[in-house]
Amino acid sequence: MELPEHIAIILDGNGRWAKAKGMPRSYGHVVGCDNLEKICNFACELGIKYLTVYAFSTENWKRAEEEVKTLMNLFRRYLKRCIKSAHKNHMRVRIIGDPSRLDPDIRDSIRLLEKESENYDKMFFQIALNYGGRDEILRGVQKICEDVGSGKLSADKLSEAQFSSYLDTADIPDPDLLIRTSGEQRISNFLLWQLAYSEMYFTNVPWPDFNNDELLKAIEYYNSRDRRYGNAK
Ligand code: IPE
Ligand code: IPE
Ligand code: MG
Repeated sequence: MELPEHIAIILDGNGRWAKAKGMPRSYGHVVGCDNLEKICNFACELGIKYLTVYAFSTENWKRAEEEVKTLMNLFRRYLKRCIKSAHKNHMRVRIIGDPSRLDPDIRDSIRLLEKESENYDKMFFQIALNYGGRDEILRGVQKICEDVGSGKLSADKLSEAQFSSYLDTADIPDPDLLIRTSGEQRISNFLLWQLAYSEMYFTNVPWPDFNNDELLKAIEYYNSRDRRYGNAK
């Protein structure tokens, strides 16, 4: 079986999964968070080189204040735990998105996690936190304008590769496979530039139930596709 070099996942369905069990949405987020650790370890065991997950979107601030608070507290704990997984798995962890709206202590944890793991290269794990594809493109364009203004970059010579280097995912190849759990078939502002030629796998399985076998099913699906562009070899 051929492994995709880069798998991106929209972790969706925590709330509905909990509701179906008569539990509060926050319970779904707790179990979803534990599942992320499991799937990340399994992807590493399999030899997946790049894994990028969508954990909190720029739109998710519009959710109930209580839910946003729960999610932020989960990220607080998760980012600390992730340092251990990074050492265990020899994985480099990076957070993509705009950190400026996150609380200072969360930003400190991000810096520490990125610093502690920066020399690992067995797997590259990206967590999208306060991430929006449109926001990322706008931030990139702002930096490009600054560099054109200062003469560092010439506007008429801007290539796709150069443009990519201004995104949060600079140095990271485009995803080969996008997985979205829990039935929705939309991108929800995730990796708009980078998903240009990714294979799409949608499953009804909610994120807390998405186990190792489900990941293998997605990879099997990927193997059944005939790829021409993107990172096709
Ligand atoms: C995904 O689950 C987690 C986040 C978006 C943070 P949801 O919270 O979107 O769960 P559903 O889609 O409402 O079931
Ligand atoms: C997308 O899921 C964002 C994340 C998984 C972090 P949502 O549940 O927030 O997306 P919509 O609202 O269904 O588009
Ligand atoms: Mg959702």
